[in-house]
Order: sequence, then structure tokens, then C-alpha cells
Amino acid sequence: MHKDVEKILVSEEVIQHRIDGLAKKVLEKGEDNIMIVVLLKGALVFAADLFRRMPVMLDLECLNVSSYHGGMESSGVVKFLDNTMPNFEGKRVVVVDDIYDTGLTMKSVCDKIEKSGALSVESCVLLAKDKKHDVEYEPDYVGFTIGDEFVIGYGLDYKGKYRNLPYIGVLKEEAI
Ligand code: PRP
Repeated sequence: MHKDVEKILVSEEVIQHRIDGLAKKVLEKGEDNIMIVVLLKGALVFAADLFRRMPVMLDLECLNVSSYHGGMESSGVVKFLDNTMPNFEGKRVVVVDDIYDTGLTMKSVCDKIEKSGALSVESCVLLAKDKKHDVEYEPDYVGFTIGDEFVIGYGLDYKGKYRNLPYIGVLKEEAI
């Protein structure tokens, strides 16, 4: 375990096993016209494990969005950092993110994609916080529901670090 980690919340083995199930669920709904949209940077690790378990023809796009700017609290504003958007027309878009916290990011992204001619828009998150979210929206696929605590690892960062840890963990007080 990394020296800055207080405890492991979800182990590497448990994460990998759960992703098997999530990939299966997405494909059970249909295998055609899938476009995976990865929300950078946090969802990079999860998405790579998820779509490699989908042995179908699919499109892959990334969107660079940010609202936490490396810190522990949402700024409340979701910034779209790309100059252009992919072409979503006729696609069954599955937006992939690492964590659903206030819900602002996923809701903003799905709204934007829906207005851009997608066939349908679904959302898949590895983690969802068990709390009252700021928006009226529920993700379609959720890996794990966790408490309202700040977590790092498996794509999630604190000040840009810890994304490479293979598990989801809680930081030690002294590392903050
Ligand atoms: C984090 C995370 C999600 C979003 C979730 O992104 O990766 O995209 O916040 O929070 P919300 O539900 O409160 O909107 P962040 O802005 O930290 O960018 P990053 O993915 O590059 O770390």
C-alpha cells in the first residue's frame, strides 16, 4: 500500500471483477452503434479496463472536462476544455466517468451530448457517492456506491497525483 494511503476502500481484485459485470450489462442492452465517451482525466483507467471487456465494434472518444481543478471540492462549474466535440449522430453513447459526486459533470455532459443528435445517451460510473446529489439525474450503471469521503487511486487524483494506484483508497490526513 502507498505510504500516503490510510486504507484501501476497494481492492484491485474487487474492482476488476465488478468491471466484468458492468461490461456485460452494457452489452446486454445491445451491441450496435456503441460510442464510449471517456471523461478525462479521471475515467481513463476505468474506461480502458471497461471497453477492453467489450468484444464488439465500438467507437471511442474522449472529452476533456474539469471542475475540481485538483482539489477536494467541486468548483460548481463544469469546464469543457476541448475546442471541438465529436460527432455523436446515430450513436448509442455511453459516457464513462470514475466518480459521480455532485452529479454536475455527468449531467452537463449527457445534456450536451443529447442535444448533439445522439441516438441515446447512457452513463457508466465506477463509483457513486451515497449522498444527495446537486442534480436530478441517476447514472445508468454504477460499479460501487461509497460514502461521502474523498477517495484517490484508479484514475482519481489529489492535486494531480495518485491516479496510478490500482485500488481506490482514502488519503491519510497528513498527506492533505
Ligand atoms: C472529477 C471526476 C469526475 C467529476 C465528478 O473530475 O473525475 O469527472 O469530478 O464530480 P461531480 O459529480 O461532482 O461533477 P475533475 O474535475 O477532478 O477532473 P479530472 O477527471 O481531470 O480529475
